[in-house]
Amino acid sequence: MAKPVKVKVTISHKGTDTDYTLRQGLGLQALAAAAKTPIEFDCRAADCGICIVRVQKNPENLSEPTTEERDFLKAMRADPDERLACQCRVMGDVELLVDEY
Ligand code: FES
Repeated sequence: MAKPVKVKVTISHKGTDTDYTLRQGLGLQALAAAAKTPIEFDCRAADCGICIVRVQKNPENLSEPTTEERDFLKAMRADPDERLACQCRVMGDVELLVDEY
């Protein structure tokens, strides 16, 4: 059996970059369950917006937005580089910025 592919998730928060390793295809919620990250979650269903992150590098390495995520981001007038972490699966290395809102 092939070894699972690992991807690197870099999260910038308060001026500090931290690298995390995640199995390819898992979601950012799985990462937060395994390691302490600055991403906050509440509804986990594209309904509250607390998990919003800004994608700084390789947005193509995140899963396509779900209809629910797309609708929510549109309603919030989010910037094109913003995603809801609760809806994202990670397919390759990616860099995210977590702001204080
Ligand atoms: S946790 Fe509520 S939108 Fe992601």
